[in-house]
Amino acid sequence: MIVHPSIMEYIENHVGQAPEAFQQVWKKSQWEMVYGHMVSDVPQAQFLRMLAQLMGARKVLDVGTFSGQSALAFALGVGENGKVITLEKNEEHWVKAQRILKDYPETQRIHFHCGDALAWMEQCQDLFDIIFIDAEKQQYPAYYEAGLSLLRSGGLMIIDNVLWYGTVTDPTNQQKDAVILRQFNQKIANDARVTSVILPLRDGLTLLQKK
Ligand SMILES: C[S@@+](CC[C@H](N)C(=O)[O-])C[C@H]1O[C@@H](n2cnc3c(N)ncnc32)[C@H](O)[C@@H]1O
Repeated sequence: MIVHPSIMEYIENHVGQAPEAFQQVWKKSQWEMVYGHMVSDVPQAQFLRMLAQLMGARKVLDVGTFSGQSALAFALGVGENGKVITLEKNEEHWVKAQRILKDYPETQRIHFHCGDALAWMEQCQDLFDIIFIDAEKQQYPAYYEAGLSLLRSGGLMIIDNVLWYGTVTDPTNQQKDAVILRQFNQKIANDARVTSVILPLRDGLTLLQKK
């Protein structure tokens, strides 16, 4: 964890007016999913929901469904005329996410797609207000390029796990995902097509806006 546990606990205890659903989905993910730690926690879900509200987003692409927490956060944020497309390649996750979210009325705004995210993105013709990248780390550079072409001008891309437990700051750490993410973060920092910043929320979130 890159933020001190006591700070994380404090932040968790001071999320204002988060829907009960975020805590419920987090808990169900711990019980029902094999890798329960992969679910967005309540502060992150609240942050994603607020970004969608602040952007006035109507169309969101969520790359990496898992148990559906980020998809639900965006579904709440886009309002009743909005829609969220969420992509998941693991059929078991795809089935469980729909079951976990089935009782929330906002789930009607979510389209759950089962299949490889990159393949879907490369054939998509639509434009999105927000794209959230939270799937296979080795594929991040490819999601980024495909995602940029699906993002409207002024649109927001959010990328999770960019600090990879803090390993990106240590150039001697040659672990595969650390190396990929270190190069990836540098590429974004140098990219004149976007303005960007890394936030130390959870495992590191990049926010970037397409010019
Ligand atoms: C970290 S979890 C997503 C967490 C979720 N976005 C949230 O906020 O709670 C990553 C998910 O991406 C899925 N995934 C990995 N590679 C994928 C791919 N190539 N296409 C689609 N989904 C993929 C995994 O099966 C896993 O369910």
